[in-house]
Amino acid sequence: ATIQVKADEAKSISNHLIGIFFEDINYAADGGLYAELIQNRDFEYAPTDRGNDQNWNSTHSWSVRGANGKLSIATENPIHPNNSHYAVLEVNMPAEVSLVNSGFDGIAVKKEEKYDFSFFSKMLEGKGGKVKVALQTKDGKEVAMAVLSVTSKEWKKQRAVLTAYQDATDAVLTITPLVWMGTQQLALDMVSLFPQKTFKGRKNGLRADLAQTLADLHPRFVRFPGGCVAHGDGIDNIYDWKGSIGPLEARKPLRNLWGYHQTRGLGYHEYFLFCEDMGAEPVPVVAAGVPCQNSGTCAHHSKGELTCMGQQGGIPMEEMPQYIQDVLDLIEYANGDARKTVWGKKRAEAGHPKPFNLKYIGIGNEDMITEVFVERFKMIFDAVKEKYPEVTVIGTTGPFYEGTDYEVGWELATELGVPMVDEHYYVEPGWLIHNQDYYDRYDRKKAKVYLGEYAAHLPGRPNNVETALAEALYLTAVERNGDVVEMTSYAPLLAKDGHTQWNPDLIYFNNTEVKPTVGYYTQLMYGQNSGNEYFASDVKLNNGWDAVKKRVGVSVVKDVHTGDYIVKLVNMLPVEVSARVKLDGVALVNPSATKTVLAGDPKDRGAKPVSSDFKVEGNDFPYAMPAYSFTVIRIHQN
Ligand code: AHR
Repeated sequence: ATIQVKADEAKSISNHLIGIFFEDINYAADGGLYAELIQNRDFEYAPTDRGNDQNWNSTHSWSVRGANGKLSIATENPIHPNNSHYAVLEVNMPAEVSLVNSGFDGIAVKKEEKYDFSFFSKMLEGKGGKVKVALQTKDGKEVAMAVLSVTSKEWKKQRAVLTAYQDATDAVLTITPLVWMGTQQLALDMVSLFPQKTFKGRKNGLRADLAQTLADLHPRFVRFPGGCVAHGDGIDNIYDWKGSIGPLEARKPLRNLWGYHQTRGLGYHEYFLFCEDMGAEPVPVVAAGVPCQNSGTCAHHSKGELTCMGQQGGIPMEEMPQYIQDVLDLIEYANGDARKTVWGKKRAEAGHPKPFNLKYIGIGNEDMITEVFVERFKMIFDAVKEKYPEVTVIGTTGPFYEGTDYEVGWELATELGVPMVDEHYYVEPGWLIHNQDYYDRYDRKKAKVYLGEYAAHLPGRPNNVETALAEALYLTAVERNGDVVEMTSYAPLLAKDGHTQWNPDLIYFNNTEVKPTVGYYTQLMYGQNSGNEYFASDVKLNNGWDAVKKRVGVSVVKDVHTGDYIVKLVNMLPVEVSARVKLDGVALVNPSATKTVLAGDPKDRGAKPVSSDFKVEGNDFPYAMPAYSFTVIRIHQN
């Protein structure tokens, strides 16, 4: 093959092409990225979180060990009305009774590392005294402990640091009253244990290894908090951002439509901080005044397919002014002056006086473009445009599935002048191979594109070399269209082993391991090798069959900040392709290069990229693209 790169046909492309889409699905937040180790710390689990499962209640993950002790749940005089349930441990002394939390599939700790423990407590009956807080392995071995004193009759927050004497993967937390007299009742809430080693050392922070795996992608933006989670499966399930900020004990827990509980300890403030810590633009998505597919009765099947039945509905018109105000307040929380604005002040109180510099806001997620939607979307869009013209609104095109009015979403965006539109498509690898001209055909006068959710889906939903290469191939076409496609994000991002509602995902994990997929490496190779200038290229293969041609993709970009030229080559053929790369019109000064290759059998789920030095003496060099491979050649000028 000959790959003729035309330096005189260059164009500027988006500098934000590769980002991440974070949604709390598959235990991505609580039990995942959010580093809290105690499950149901707020005692707010409710059967309604999980289709009326009666075992999913305020005592979930909690138990009592030892005789003469009883656990009950109370609601009188809680710490905060948003957090109305708390535990009452009744102990009849002398006896050793412990309240036990089993964490999220156990608690994993590392030898010599420190863990911040805290709880709110008050004595409902009796004088109280000392309690021992410990971590114990399944077989009863203590691996960390501290002693606190609980005597207050009013809610009181206390802290202790636990240092692990040894590694453990399956520990439980025990809270044990020590030498108390008679019958006593201890109330407890917001029982929390955090590793001190979080991502960037933040309190109430993120799991360091998982967050670092995301940061390694060099994401230019983060979309949050969903997905379906953003607009919920009913009006009462819409993600109200205000309920996700402020003191943890006052946050409003929310049912997660994926069938579990959101403490929202990882809330809007933490999302903004995470973006800042990674140098990524925050892209919050708010509901367009309608829940998922405009209906309160949508459900995801085990295969991840969404079906909606029943009446369409949205926030009642008389409540829309308040809802719109909430959206405007969100922008003020992110960008408002810390002294002069109400919400800017709240941001400062949360420890961040400097604005977060929000540039984008998504309105709507994959909504059906119905009258109910259009009416509400327009109201929110107009209000944001008027008050914050500098913030780019991202609209939605609706679901991509057959039988839905995808085109109507586009028409609406064009009619209203929405600057950017969020497209979603989960498709077979073949679709990605055969539709590489999707954006070539695109009307440049229309809205810019944010490809907010996409992934290659095969039967059985693996994430393997075939899906990863199809995505890499498609991204060469996306880079070619980086003048209209502003941003892309693979979906979903995270999935915890044993708690997965959707496959494939980009990164799987358990309490101790992070397991990036092959598709992760496609994202990594793009994220670490983006450019802002694109060069057209002609690819000539000896075999001129269309089906063969479509399986080879090339994209050449320049990173104007480093002066590096980056050549991406995807070969989805079962044979090696010997290529000659000709960077016509490019004068390379003392070039040195590295080559990173991701290759393997299409069914391989474990392939990883391998990097090595690559010899580039001039602007015309040979390269043999291995069968089923994605290569990045990065040429640095010295
Ligand atoms: O990414 C999983 C789900 O797919 C998202 O929540 C939703 O937007 C889409 O249907």
